[in-house]
Amino acid sequence: MTARIIDGKAIAKKLRAEYAERIVALKAKHGVVPGIAVILVGDNPASEVYVRNKISACRETGIHSELVRLPADAPEAEVLARIDALNADPAVHGILVQLPLPPHIDVPKVLERIDVSKDVDGFHLYNVGALVVGNTVFPPCTPFGVQKLLEHENVPIEGRNVVVVGASNIVGKPMALMLMKQEATVCICHKKTRNLGMFTRLADILVVAAGVPGLISADMVKEGVVVIDVGINRLPDGRLVGDVDFEDVRHKASLITPVPGGVGPMTITMLLHNTLGSAERSVAAKV
Ligand code: GUN
Repeated sequence: MTARIIDGKAIAKKLRAEYAERIVALKAKHGVVPGIAVILVGDNPASEVYVRNKISACRETGIHSELVRLPADAPEAEVLARIDALNADPAVHGILVQLPLPPHIDVPKVLERIDVSKDVDGFHLYNVGALVVGNTVFPPCTPFGVQKLLEHENVPIEGRNVVVVGASNIVGKPMALMLMKQEATVCICHKKTRNLGMFTRLADILVVAAGVPGLISADMVKEGVVVIDVGINRLPDGRLVGDVDFEDVRHKASLITPVPGGVGPMTITMLLHNTLGSAERSVAAKV
């Protein structure tokens, strides 16, 4: 078997075009332009790239964006004061604090300062709790993007064995909760898992977000598996690869995401989705 490749770039493009239309309609009908504020503290090079990409995706889709740049030594109180001002600004429907933050800043304290109705990253404890009980309005963007890819490809979830490799707060844990909500049988593996292959071979759907290039080889999956590779790793020779040995595994899988061009383009697309949804809800709350 050779897998069909899931074209995340094309799916993201299609969704962004739909959002752009909804944004035009929202402005025409209610005079509201969705707005997002991104807070970037310090000059982490990877964060600079992520933030630039987020802002240009907003511009292309018609979302107004505001970048709040603070120096690496900005006091925590200043970050909190900026969040307070954005919470009170009706033109801002989404607030995102780019992670990681410098070590002197208390991350949970900062994330919990964001108004839950503007928490487009879904990282506030309230939204994490909402995800646990199964009624979140802001699913975290990366696992939400994976869910949309699976939905687009009509992959059945209910009753399937899903194995998630990686237990981070940003991807693995919320991913597992979202798939549980869809009534999959979910297993989470992580750094301390012994005999990883014993678990991954059970998967009908395998989601890998470990940050280890080439972690998953063909002998670790069963024939016909659906493979979603969330990893983005830069090799010493400059190549960008996922956590799955793509050339090896694609001959055994039925569907597989490439890196780049699989999950990556969907993450920012879900940020646009969450920001637009927040703006639409703000209008609905007024009428
Ligand atoms: N840093 C790495 N991924 C993310 C993300 O999804 N959101 C934010 N805010 N920071 C990140």
